[in-house]
Amino acid sequence: MKRRRFTQILSFGAGSMSFLSVAAQETDGSTDEQSQDDDRDDQAVAATGSERVVSASSPQPVKVEDYIALSQAKLPKATFDYITTGSADEITLRENVAAFRRIKVLPPLLTGVAKADLSTRVLNERISLPVMLAPVAALGMYHPQGALAAASAAASAGTLFAVSSSAGHSVEEIAAAAPGPKWFQLYVPKDRTVARRLVERVERSCYQAIIVTVDLGEWKDADRRNRFSLPKQMLLKHLRDVGHEQLSDKMSYEELSAFNARAWDLSISWNFFDWLRSVTKLPLLVKGVLRKEDALRAVSIGLDGIIVSNHGGRRLDGMPASIDRVSEIAEAVQGRAEVLMDGGIRRGTDVLKAVALGAKAVLIGRPHAWALASDGESGVRRVIELLREEFENAMIATGCARVDEINRSLIQS
Ligand SMILES: Cc1cc2nc3c(=O)[nH]c(=O)nc-3n(C[C@H](O)[C@H](O)[C@H](O)COP(=O)(O)O)c2cc1C
Repeated sequence: MKRRRFTQILSFGAGSMSFLSVAAQETDGSTDEQSQDDDRDDQAVAATGSERVVSASSPQPVKVEDYIALSQAKLPKATFDYITTGSADEITLRENVAAFRRIKVLPPLLTGVAKADLSTRVLNERISLPVMLAPVAALGMYHPQGALAAASAAASAGTLFAVSSSAGHSVEEIAAAAPGPKWFQLYVPKDRTVARRLVERVERSCYQAIIVTVDLGEWKDADRRNRFSLPKQMLLKHLRDVGHEQLSDKMSYEELSAFNARAWDLSISWNFFDWLRSVTKLPLLVKGVLRKEDALRAVSIGLDGIIVSNHGGRRLDGMPASIDRVSEIAEAVQGRAEVLMDGGIRRGTDVLKAVALGAKAVLIGRPHAWALASDGESGVRRVIELLREEFENAMIATGCARVDEINRSLIQS
């Protein structure tokens, strides 16, 4: 038995924003290399729920999960693990994928549908299919073009890019990279002057809505084991991009990290939206909703959208699959706010199931991160195309010529 001591590591994105405190870990007698290889296999299986993933040398991915092995071959282990793993025992991570597989589709026959229009509207923006890119942090660690490549891919695929506060480029750089529609996902700087200026920059850069992510409780074993952290220059750029322009190149990594740990407001409550409403007219969404009561509260304070999400199993472990919460929430909201969902979308049939259960559209997180790491902008474009082809097939097979024809009766109850 070997005892390893871990020092503080940084994870980013406000619910995971603070330094994790010093943790000690017992390991068994296996070598580091062996256990790392075993970990990698376990993670690919946990992420897919299946062992059949494409090998790194396969030329053309034919399904979203093919990008897991391709990205694994390209990335340092710690970065691959950061994207792929979930919190604690990964119960929620696995459940997100497994729940979709439990839901069964009952297609009506002989409907005469041979073509489908996949387009839909979210918050009045027409998108070419009900799949958007979810906010994902640290995109610059997966590919040099990072968020700029993701923005171009979303624009050319005709869909929306929800840009993380921690994406790795400034809101202006991402806006300039591609003309497509964008939403901004806000983690809240404690300094409200910085927060207000950031929101103003988001508006000036023509983002169309603001998502406030509110779920907390990230506790990822792999990131602690790997001591995963942002390189210094990326952390400095991230903090400056948010608006902490005073930070100097001369600051040590420890100083920057300590600043980062203090910079974010992790204790916001519902009245934060009053403040946000007072500084912007943009539509507002709340991300991380799993309870009907919270969805109704969001409606009661006039929020425009609700993202049913457990953060892809990266926050508190043991939460239910997001897809299992969609139907109750959509029924309660009754169209008074847009209901979107994310978590576990790996197939076009998953998109159909989510829409049938009441989501207006879905967001994909890991799929676009894996694809970005594997093949930059073309990878992200391809991952959207794979979902488009599969979703179109699912629509035609269920006799839906338009997205608004997809309904609950297609799901076996
Ligand atoms: C590597 C990574 C980083 C993420 N960073 C953020 C973030 O900065 N802000 C946020 O609201 N959600 C973040 N998320 C969560 C996603 O927006 C989304 O909720 C989740 O990935 C959906 O599950 P999926 O990965 O199964 O598609 C991140 C997810 C991943 C995989």
